[in-house]
Amino acid sequence: MPGKLFPLGGPVPEKDVVDREDFIFSLQTRLAEGQSIMLAGPRRIGKTSLAYEVLRRGKKQGFYTVSVDFFRLSDKRDFAVSLINACLENRTGVRRTIDVLKDRAKSIAGTAKITLKLEDLEFGIGFLADEKNDNVLLDYALDLPNVLAKRDKKSVIVLFDEFQDASRVVDADIYKKMRSHFQNQESVAYMFLGSKEGIMDTLFGNRKEAFYRFATILPIPPIPENAWIKYIIERFSHRGINTEYEIIKEILNRTGGHPQDTMLVCSEIFYALLEAEENTITPGIVRLGYDRALITLTPVYDEILDELSQRFKVRDVLKRIAFGKSVYAKNINPNEAKRAVDHLVSKAIIQKKGRGSYTFVEPMFQEYILREFF
Ligand SMILES: Nc1ncnc2c1ncn2[C@@H]1O[C@H](COP(=O)(O)OP(=O)(O)OP(=O)(O)O)[C@@H](O)[C@H]1O
Ligand SMILES: [Mg+2]
Repeated sequence: MPGKLFPLGGPVPEKDVVDREDFIFSLQTRLAEGQSIMLAGPRRIGKTSLAYEVLRRGKKQGFYTVSVDFFRLSDKRDFAVSLINACLENRTGVRRTIDVLKDRAKSIAGTAKITLKLEDLEFGIGFLADEKNDNVLLDYALDLPNVLAKRDKKSVIVLFDEFQDASRVVDADIYKKMRSHFQNQESVAYMFLGSKEGIMDTLFGNRKEAFYRFATILPIPPIPENAWIKYIIERFSHRGINTEYEIIKEILNRTGGHPQDTMLVCSEIFYALLEAEENTITPGIVRLGYDRALITLTPVYDEILDELSQRFKVRDVLKRIAFGKSVYAKNINPNEAKRAVDHLVSKAIIQKKGRGSYTFVEPMFQEYILREFF
């Protein structure tokens, strides 16, 4: 198996991170200075890929790195244990240090080594394995990055992915609690990632703004077109496929350079070529690959559209924007139109381009709507 030519469906490996060099560098610099950052972006724009690349580079430079994904967690204890494990991995090289410690009987030799590595961390083995009080465990976990930083004279970067889920996993007070633990941790910098809507809903409401001031919110810049072109040509030619600059540009015109959609279209083009036993990308193949990609996206878009349509007039306004019309129409009350637009912006479906003009974050979603309502 030659492996996937274009990675899809999750954070991309190092070699496939298409140039966001300046942005990655800027993130690294800020984190190294101890500044905490929040990246709130639209779906599938490459947040996790970016953050993982920052962690990989940080690790190479001698930082301790810690990564926790709230999407995978179910409750307070789960969070505390994951955070502790992710911290301790820097010392032990083992992913689930706590499980290993619990399993004392199974591997006495291995456990002894790990125990030694953790000797100075102010807890008995029994504490981590047996502590019954989740709050005690959580307080311990939230302090651990800083404890490690001090003990080992290291700087630590901690990533919290799908951060909007923290209140689901723990409770609504988690943001306040985190902030009270984090604000004086000098050698630890935090990177919070989340869906744009989720982060906005979670952190802007209800007196939680204190947390928002703790981290700088940065928008995620698009991937430069030239970087995409270079990457796509290189990938295809890796498999002996001929491409032309103009053809690749056409792909990018259609996807708007949206990371996942671009990867998906390229991938479908690749399979279409394999099926046709061709090795040259023609405009016809681009259309075919694009159409197939749109079909695979349809269930996702159906769901998004259904959800959006639950709000009054949102569907009408979205349709108007897709067809390039003004959002204000005779049959829509201007206040309602404005509310619908605000909702679509907060959901990161559209973005403001100029006065009263909006574009789709995902041009393929626009195309889906055009076809749906034609
Ligand atoms: N820097 C990049 N270069 C190339 N492709 C990318 C890049 N970032 C993301 N992609 C593409 O987008 C897909 C989704 O990336 P990733 O999971 O990092 O995004 P995300 O914003 O974290 O998504 P989610 O909204 O699901 O959390 C990847 O599988 C890949 O196809
Ligand atoms: Mg992600």
